[in-house]
Amino acid sequence: MTVLHLRSAGVSLVLDARGAVPAILHWGSDLGELGDATLTAMAEAAVPAVPPSSVDVPLRFSLLPGPAEGWSGRPSLEGHRQGVPAPAFRLVEVQDQNPSAIVRAESTDTTLELTTELELSAQGVLRVRHRLENRGDTDFDLAGLGVQLPIPEDAAELLDFTGLWAHERQPQRAPLRHGVWSRESRHGRPGHDDAFLLMAGEPGFGFRRGRVWAVHLAWSGDKSIWAERSALGPGALGGGELLAPGEVRLAPGLSYETPWLVAAFSETGIDGLSDRLHPWIRSLSPVRLPRPVVLNTWEAVYFDHDLAVLNDLVDAASAAGVERFVLDDGWFTGRRDDRRALGDWTVDPAVWPDGLHPLISRVTAAGMEFGLWVEPEMISLDSDLARAHPSWILGGPDALTWRWQRVLDLSVPAAFDHVRDRLSALLTEYPIAFLKWDHNRDLLTAGAAHRQTRALYRLLGTLRARFPHVEIESCASGGARIDLGILELVDRFWTSDTNDPLDRQSIQRWTGVLIPPEYLGGHLGDATAHVTGRSSALGLRLATALFGSAGIEWNLTKASPAEHALIAEWVALHKRLRPLLHTGRVVRADAPDPALHLHGVVAQDRSAAVYALVATGSPRAALPPPMRLPGLDPDRLYTVRPLGTPPKVVQDAPPAWLTAGAAKLPGRVLSEVGLPVPLLAPEQALLLEVNV
Ligand code: DGJ
Repeated sequence: MTVLHLRSAGVSLVLDARGAVPAILHWGSDLGELGDATLTAMAEAAVPAVPPSSVDVPLRFSLLPGPAEGWSGRPSLEGHRQGVPAPAFRLVEVQDQNPSAIVRAESTDTTLELTTELELSAQGVLRVRHRLENRGDTDFDLAGLGVQLPIPEDAAELLDFTGLWAHERQPQRAPLRHGVWSRESRHGRPGHDDAFLLMAGEPGFGFRRGRVWAVHLAWSGDKSIWAERSALGPGALGGGELLAPGEVRLAPGLSYETPWLVAAFSETGIDGLSDRLHPWIRSLSPVRLPRPVVLNTWEAVYFDHDLAVLNDLVDAASAAGVERFVLDDGWFTGRRDDRRALGDWTVDPAVWPDGLHPLISRVTAAGMEFGLWVEPEMISLDSDLARAHPSWILGGPDALTWRWQRVLDLSVPAAFDHVRDRLSALLTEYPIAFLKWDHNRDLLTAGAAHRQTRALYRLLGTLRARFPHVEIESCASGGARIDLGILELVDRFWTSDTNDPLDRQSIQRWTGVLIPPEYLGGHLGDATAHVTGRSSALGLRLATALFGSAGIEWNLTKASPAEHALIAEWVALHKRLRPLLHTGRVVRADAPDPALHLHGVVAQDRSAAVYALVATGSPRAALPPPMRLPGLDPDRLYTVRPLGTPPKVVQDAPPAWLTAGAAKLPGRVLSEVGLPVPLLAPEQALLLEVNV
């Protein structure tokens, strides 16, 4: 057995596989070419002291840390066989497939086999998962199986997320003290308060500074991700599915596979994480480009479906340059409000006497694709489906309602088949290019999240195999199900139910640390945001919805001719810029003024970039700090020009370069010295285009 060195894109992972269950000696910056002798010397040198009042052998933090090796922190494996906990494990085999490795270990009584896959991608993203097989002749009750990775002492500050409906991914920071910082989702979906991406970095790490280690669990059900440090010494980041007692019982011969723990390391702050994660996600779950500009009917008409009104909206959308028209909630039998009809996935003949054909014909004749809203995992008590099959309701008919609805138990084979066949029938009858797949409640049935999530993945997989041309959007009351598990089966996320640009600025900035912009739906809403009641200038709304998978969620038939013209210009601008926005490197500046945020996208070859300077409040100084543009090639000469709707400013005269219309400077000057900015009025955005 040996010491493995996995290397890729500036990241090294050294695995000591000499005899015992392997231990990660290093996960972080590239160590360069190391020969076998050096690796062995490194492993020997890494053997720690034996402190007083401890186990009598040097502590190892292996791939399966637990009490049998003296680890009194959170164990990776918990479970029992008829009341007897899982025994210790020993190494069987290691396959070195640099930059990947496969480790096989077995319990000392040979009744359990553990296979661990470690993959370091071409972008330097590490992902790790375990598979546990029961080779005994009785059941093994699994209580938990997680993946843990060591982090060094200087990863002393944590950053993760919390949130609520329409306010997802609010960042929170805390020092990593002794103890376990465990963020748990028990919603049966990640939830609006999902921890999302847990980062541990050098204190004060920012978008562009500091070393950072981060983990995300690629799973859409109950889960936990955690950071731990203790008096034992080693620190760890971990993650795994949260299992209820009895939820996973492995009969002889059966196995359980954990979700991937996706991990990234950066020497250059949070942007360095995105620099690895975005290209990796783009290669793993590619989405068709260009992303079509969407019009979604929800905030335009809600449940009030009327063909004449919708036809006018189709015409207005088409005139604005929209490419995909999505009919949201309210089209199926009996669905006049949110209290009924989920499960009855047939077009309502009372509202749509000729089916959806007249509307879809109008949409396709205008050169647009058609998309449809569904919520297949749900059932209303007031539905034909619930009346016919009350036993298909998860938790039974008395289960707590949430938005007046209940969950359809997809682990009931007949229920699964029914919803699969209903959706298949719709996708066969109508030329549907896109499903907005909603999920508007927590599960709230103990012990059901694992099987329901697996069934959801199976359902999505089946539909994708049958209808490969149909794109699917993961929506869960907005952004309550944004994770890399479901991303293997969907093409877009509905980032949040709020179209309020101020809230969206923050939600998009932080969701975009993990998810590339082209997967994140962002829509231009009404002047007064429906969710918050706050009014915003059109310029800010346009600038906010420009960068992601863009769309409109506004009754355009009520927009003024001047607004129409600006919207059409914006759609054209988005179409011109989207090849860059949806393939480039996302950058953000560390804001010296908390009211001023700068973000942008730089082309991979650094020949062009688009930036937005956004004032979310009143700037702190009359002359705000110069705007430094990150990510450019220091040695090339760039021209910086303002773009789109000019913002409202508070000043007697703009900076000279803006009066001149452009600045021409080397990338080094633009990123190190920066440019003076106008004093933006609160809630305004300045867009900039940069070209060589
Ligand atoms: C919640 C979604 O997030 C909204 O966009 C909309 O589709 C409604 N559900 C429809 O009920």
